[in-house]
Amino acid sequence: MSLQDKGGQDKAGQDKDGQDGRPQGGDSTPAPRPGLSRRRLFGAVGAGAVLAGAGVAVGRLTAPEAAETSSSTVTFHGSHQAGIVTPAQDRMHFVAFDVITDSRDELVAMLKKWTEMAARMTAGEEAAADGAIGAGEYNPPTDTGEALDLHASKLTLTIGFGPSLFEANGKDRFGLADKRPAALADLPKFTGDALEPARSGGDIAIQACSDDPQVAVHAVRNLARVGFGVVAVRWSQLGFGRTSSTSTSQTTPRNLFGFKDGTRNIKAEDPSAVSEFVWVDPQDDQSWMAGGSYLVTRRIRMLIEPWDRTTLHEQERVFGRSKGSGAPLGQKTEFDDLQLEAKGAGGKPVIDKNAHVRLASAEELGGIQILRRGYNFTDGTDGFGHLDAGLFFIAYCRDPQKQFVPMQQSLARNDALGEYIKHVGSAVFAVPPGVREGDYWGSTLFET
Ligand code: HEM
Repeated sequence: MSLQDKGGQDKAGQDKDGQDGRPQGGDSTPAPRPGLSRRRLFGAVGAGAVLAGAGVAVGRLTAPEAAETSSSTVTFHGSHQAGIVTPAQDRMHFVAFDVITDSRDELVAMLKKWTEMAARMTAGEEAAADGAIGAGEYNPPTDTGEALDLHASKLTLTIGFGPSLFEANGKDRFGLADKRPAALADLPKFTGDALEPARSGGDIAIQACSDDPQVAVHAVRNLARVGFGVVAVRWSQLGFGRTSSTSTSQTTPRNLFGFKDGTRNIKAEDPSAVSEFVWVDPQDDQSWMAGGSYLVTRRIRMLIEPWDRTTLHEQERVFGRSKGSGAPLGQKTEFDDLQLEAKGAGGKPVIDKNAHVRLASAEELGGIQILRRGYNFTDGTDGFGHLDAGLFFIAYCRDPQKQFVPMQQSLARNDALGEYIKHVGSAVFAVPPGVREGDYWGSTLFET
C-alpha cells in the first residue's frame, strides 16, 4: 500500500484502540499520571517498613504529591510507543547496543526485564522495586541512585531494532530473518557521507528523552547495567535543546545555526499526517510492526566556524527563511506559506533553488513528509581546534525507503546547507508498536 492511499483506515484503528479500555499511548496523549519523585518513593518505602505495622498505607503517604507532579510523567503503555509524537522534551540520551549473545532466550529475558524497568522509570520510580538500597547491604543496589531526588521529568523510553538484529553477515542468530520488514533495509550511501562505523548502526536502540538530562542518562545507564552480558554499548549520544517541535503547544526552538527549526514539522495535533507518514499500517508489510514506526538517526556535524563567518544574507539564502522571525523569505511571519514559485529582482526565485526548505519540502518531493525529533549536541573538540558540534537528527517515518531516503538524496545532492554540515553517523531502526499491560518490548516480534 502506498503512503498516500492509507486513508482513514488507520485512524479508525486508532479510535478503536482508544475505546478498548486499555491505556492510550503516551505519544498521542501524554496523559498525566500521578507522579512521585524517586526520593518520595524511596522515603515512602523506607517509611512504609516502619509504618506497615501501624496499618498506614504507603499510598496515602504519597497522595499529596500527585498534584505537584501530575504533569511530569508520560504514559508508558499504549498502542504506540511514547517518545515519537510526544511533545519533544528538552534533553535526550540515545544509545545503540550490539547484542553480544546468540541466545534468543537471553535476549527475550532482557527485553522483559527492560520493559518492567522502563515502565517504572517513566513513572518516576526507581528501576526496580527494591531500589537503591532495598536489595540490602551485601548486594549491588538494583537502582544506581543518581535520579533518586528527581521527578520523571516527562521521561520517555523508546526502543528500536536495527537491521543487524534480524540478519548480519549471513547469520540469522535469533530466527528473525523472515520477520525483517522491507522498510528496514540498510540506508544507501548518500553523496558526501563521511560515516564513522563506531557512530553508526546497532542491533537495538533506546531513545531516552526527558526534561532533565540526569533522568535520561540514569534510565539508559540502568538498562545498560541490566543488559550486561547480553548487550554492549556500541555508541551513544547526548543531546540538548530540542531542534523540533512535535506539538502545536510548543514554541519553535532554534538549532546551533541560530534558525528556528521545526516550523513545518508534522505535529501531533494533525492525526491524518501522523497516520499517513508516521505509523505503520497493518497492511504495510510485517504485521508485527503495525502501530510502530521507523527511526532514522544521523549525527550531523555542523561546521559552525565557517558558518559564523558567513553573512546573514547567505545564511538566509541557505535555509530560505529569515533568521529572526523564521518567516519564509518573501513572507512576514513564521507560519506563513512557503511561496516556492515567487520571483524577485531579475526573475530570480525568492527562495533559492537550492535552499534547504525547498529541497526538503513536500511540494518538491511528491508529497513526502517525515516527523523530525532531533537535538543539538556539542561533544568537545574535533582535535583541530573546532567544536565537535551539530545536530543529532532523528526522523520517524512509516517507511524510510519511501520517505527519508528520497528526501536525503535530494538534500545530499543539492542542498545549499551541504557546505556547512557533514553527516558522520547513521542508523535505522524498526520501532515496534506500543506495549500493552503484560506485554514486553518486542513481544509482537518474538511471540508471533
Ligand atoms: C544539520 C542539519 C540540518 C539543519 C541545521 C536543518 C535545519 C532546518 C531548518 C532551520 C528548517 C526550517 C524550519 C522548519 O520548517 O523546520 C528545516 C526544515 C526542514 N528540514 Fe532540515 N535541517 C538539517 C537537516 C535535515 C535533514 C538531514 C533532513 C531530512 C533528510 C531535513 C529535513 C527537513 C524538512 C523536511 C524540513 C521542512 C521543509 C518544509 O517543508 O518547509 N533536515 N531544517
